[in-house]
Formats: sequence, structure tokens, C-alpha cells
Amino acid sequence: MTKNIILGVTGSIAAFKAAIIVSKLKSLDFDITVVMTQSSQNFIHPLTFRTLSQNKVVTDIFIDESVYDPHHVSIAHKADLIVIAPATANIIGKLASGIADDALTSTVMASNVPVIIAPAMEENMYKSPITQRNISILQEVGHKFIGPEKGRLASGRTGVGRLADVELIIQAIIEEFQNKSSSD
Ligand SMILES: Cc1cc2nc3c(=O)[nH]c(=O)nc-3n(C[C@H](O)[C@H](O)[C@H](O)COP(=O)(O)O)c2cc1C
Repeated sequence: MTKNIILGVTGSIAAFKAAIIVSKLKSLDFDITVVMTQSSQNFIHPLTFRTLSQNKVVTDIFIDESVYDPHHVSIAHKADLIVIAPATANIIGKLASGIADDALTSTVMASNVPVIIAPAMEENMYKSPITQRNISILQEVGHKFIGPEKGRLASGRTGVGRLADVELIIQAIIEEFQNKSSSD
């Protein structure tokens, strides 16, 4: 049966790589629903994900629609896995603090499926004790982290904070489903 993945995209310069992730996951026959933060829409247009995923893109929690459908609840219940790539320091902090003030944080809070988080940020943001504490909190509740890697960052400097290689993210997603099916 087709697996449903929610891909959360946040306001990082690496947001364009989320388009490659959607494209690759689609070619592997996953059903993808992209949930974008408001900041992420400064980096990549929802239409890109709408086209690549062939699904509606969730960009806001407060959308006036004729059919009643609170997206954060309906898609959260349909999902088999949530992936946040790229994940900003901000989203990691909000999730670790239980803040649910936008479509993505609300969706994560409304679901009980595995969550894979691929951070991308400047090295100091990543190494900040606050970010490290937030990551530990999320790991304690079972969220998995992939990356970040060392490499060239948005500032032009080299350091740890670069989004994990897209192929590694795809591999982690596939492994998550393989582990789940062997434990069912
Ligand atoms: C050009 C630019 C690049 C940014 N890249 C990152 C990034 O890679 N990682 C990060 O944590 N924040 C980055 N930020 C800051 C976030 O966009 C900002 O913290 C925002 O509030 C994140 O919102 P969100 O987590 O709701 O998407 C960047 C900001 C700008 C202007």
C-alpha cells in the first residue's frame, strides 16, 4: 500500500533541496504532502511542491475553505511518517517546547507517527547549547535526526550545519519503513 509522508519545509537556504527530496520520493511511489512554514515560502514557492508532489501544499493553518478540513489534523492522521527537511533552529526549538502555532508544528503535535528531522543552519546556531538541548529533548521522545554535515554554509564559511545529503535522507526514510515492516 502507498505510504503517506508529510514533508515539512522550513525557512532555510537549503529549502530548494526539499524539491529534490519530493521528486525522488515521488519516483519511489510515496504519497507526499508538503507542509511549509511561512518563512520557507521566502525561499521556494509552494507551486514547486504542488507540481512535484501532485498534492495540495499546506501553507497555513487558517485557510477559509468551503469544506471543513483542519489540515493539521486530517493530514496528521493520514501520515505514516513525518520528515522535516530542512529543519531550522527555530522549528527544532518550537517542537522541543511544545509550541504549535503554525501548520507544521500543529501537524507534528497532532500525529503519533515517526518523525525524521534533518537540520540545516549556521554552525554556531547548531552548536548553540540551546539547539543541542532542544535536539536532545526531541531525541528523548523518539524523533530521529539525520545530519547536519560539515561543508560550505550559506554564509560562505565552512562548518557543521549543512543539510545532510539528499540521498542519505531518502535512505533514512526507506530504512524507517523497512524497520517498521519487519517489526509489524
Ligand atoms: C537568507 C536566510 C537564510 C537562512 N537560513 C537559515 C538556515 O539555514 N537555518 C536556520 O535555522 N535559519 C535560517 N534562517 C533564519 C530563519 O529563516 C528564521 O529563523 C525563521 O524564523 C525560521 O522560521 P521557520 O522555522 O518557521 O521556517 C535564514 C534566514 C535568511 C534570511
